[in-house]
Amino acid sequence: MKSDNIQKLLNDGYFVLKNCISKKIINNANTIIETEIENILKQKKIKFKEKDFKNNYFKLKQILPKNKIQIKLGEILYKKNLIRDLLLEKKLKNQLISILGPDIEYEEDNELLINEKENIGNDHLFKKLHQEIWSGAGIENILIWIPLNLKQGMGTLEIVKGSHKFGFIENQNREPINVNSYKTSKLNIQNRSVLFLTALTLHKTEINKNKIPRLAIPILIRNFYYKNTGNSDLNNYRKLNYSFVSIFRKILGNPFYSSFRTLGQKRKSIFEKDKHYKK
Ligand SMILES: [Fe+2]
Repeated sequence: MKSDNIQKLLNDGYFVLKNCISKKIINNANTIIETEIENILKQKKIKFKEKDFKNNYFKLKQILPKNKIQIKLGEILYKKNLIRDLLLEKKLKNQLISILGPDIEYEEDNELLINEKENIGNDHLFKKLHQEIWSGAGIENILIWIPLNLKQGMGTLEIVKGSHKFGFIENQNREPINVNSYKTSKLNIQNRSVLFLTALTLHKTEINKNKIPRLAIPILIRNFYYKNTGNSDLNNYRKLNYSFVSIFRKILGNPFYSSFRTLGQKRKSIFEKDKHYKK
């Protein structure tokens, strides 16, 4: 089953991994977001009703620009280890490892994506068809897109099937140029599922027709031994999983393979207590 998805990624440039995240983690993510919005409103001494996400979000938007809110909420999800917990969900982690190998890390700097009706016409917030490679992703990156609160009419993403085979597409001002028209497909993605894309797959946000803002997390993943072909060296990445060789390298502690801490030391054997064995 896993290799079928790799074949889909090779053929179509995307696939959806269904039911790979527990309700508990999705609920945790929504609670962290709601609480953070309430905390900021509290600090700013603005009255609000608890657990009223839509109204509280729009109150926050009156005092903070949308892009700042996306960054702040993205940061809190990382701080609370929610992104790591999501990626360590067994089915999702195993799929990532089967695509990229066991030595994987994820980008920390992504924003929480908030999509509302009013975003149309705003280049930063309502993105037109684009390839992730335009904004610094490398060919070694996989982009995953995780919806958090899908409801009727919210839409998800539209993609151009097979567009990863077009190679790098010329662009200007956040739009493809020198092209006729692309046929897009609207993706059917459910809560608790995750979309996988290559860095070359053309995609864009679908219009949200629901009054409640749509929340989704985009995360770039890569194998840290693969050559960086993009701008990843400018961004922060956090390790998610190690192969045997990487664990062994970490235990040895230096590339000279000296017996500095592996032979004759009085502490408990570091080969037994390394935290990476526990996962
Ligand atoms: Fe994108």
